[in-house]
Amino acid sequence: MIPPRLIFKKGVMKILDQRLLPDKVSFISVRDAAGTAKATKEMALRGAPLIGCAAAFGFALEVRRLRPRSSARLERLARRTAALLKAARPTAVALFYAADRMLHKALVFAAANPGVFSAGTLDRLVALIDNEARLVSAEDEAACLAMGNFGAALLPANCVIMTHCNAGALATMGIGTAVGVITAAHKGGKIKRAYSCETRPYLQGARLTIWELMREGVPSELITDNMAAHIIKTCGVNAVVVGADRIASNGDTANKIGTYGLAVIARHHKIPFYVAAPTPTIDLKARDGGDIVIEERSAGEVTFVQGRRIAPVGVKVRHPAFDVTPAGLITALITEKGVISPVTRANIKKNLSK
Ligand code: MRU
Repeated sequence: MIPPRLIFKKGVMKILDQRLLPDKVSFISVRDAAGTAKATKEMALRGAPLIGCAAAFGFALEVRRLRPRSSARLERLARRTAALLKAARPTAVALFYAADRMLHKALVFAAANPGVFSAGTLDRLVALIDNEARLVSAEDEAACLAMGNFGAALLPANCVIMTHCNAGALATMGIGTAVGVITAAHKGGKIKRAYSCETRPYLQGARLTIWELMREGVPSELITDNMAAHIIKTCGVNAVVVGADRIASNGDTANKIGTYGLAVIARHHKIPFYVAAPTPTIDLKARDGGDIVIEERSAGEVTFVQGRRIAPVGVKVRHPAFDVTPAGLITALITEKGVISPVTRANIKKNLSK
């Protein structure tokens, strides 16, 4: 079993501190939106869908804490809170989706209840916003299950599969996206072996994904990122599955740095490259991958490994945390609504309208 990632109860959110995994299962508590944004920025929690769910809960914490006494105050609070949450990280669109959804809920409530709120109206507001946050989380959990089933059905028997970064339970409120596909296929007896790339520099694959796969009893091996081509060529890998942080309307997909390279390798070896992601990951406002903002993280995450310097002092460093895989390299997108293949603008639209 994977420990709960977020526990939201009575004005407190407990967050599984993923920075300490796999050595320690430990939680931090936050009580407001600023605490949620800080925990997100500092990677106590990470993974696109989970960041979105945390933002929804963070928004609810803020409304509960400040109990705005009028529609005007609610409106100001809601706009400020959504903006604060959205500033935490730039690439995963689930964060923007969740914050905007909560903002919309609050604004509709303010418009329907103009003027000063009675105690009863305030209680209704708090309950409404709490419920909406729980709904965002429940929808993510359900989406993971659906993607697991759709994705598992695509895989052959005795499948040898590779994944990158952590798109597992730790990145969601459910069984995960890409790793959910692997664990669902494993439950169906289809997985011979799963390879997890370590995912330099933040090591989500080494610290989180392989830990999840081991806990779920999936036969699995950890490799460093530069082993991927060799392992695909020599170890019978017959599919790659990854998650996504943002999918443009044409299917270009931003995911953890290194994903694009894996897609190129998969194409060279003529094996399918799948992306599993819930529909809130699709950003219709992004025409293609060029419209996706790529987070640049600190040099220290590249030059230090577990607190130890591995590069010369003063070295110049680049650290894009994500890359964009062109739609043409993706065999299929797996959403909770089904499988999109070939990955085209029209097919994405069709899937979204289901
Ligand atoms: O920087 P992270 O750890 O938040 O990046 C996570 C990823 O890139 C995942 O692969 C992606 O969010 C998909 S998660 C279901």
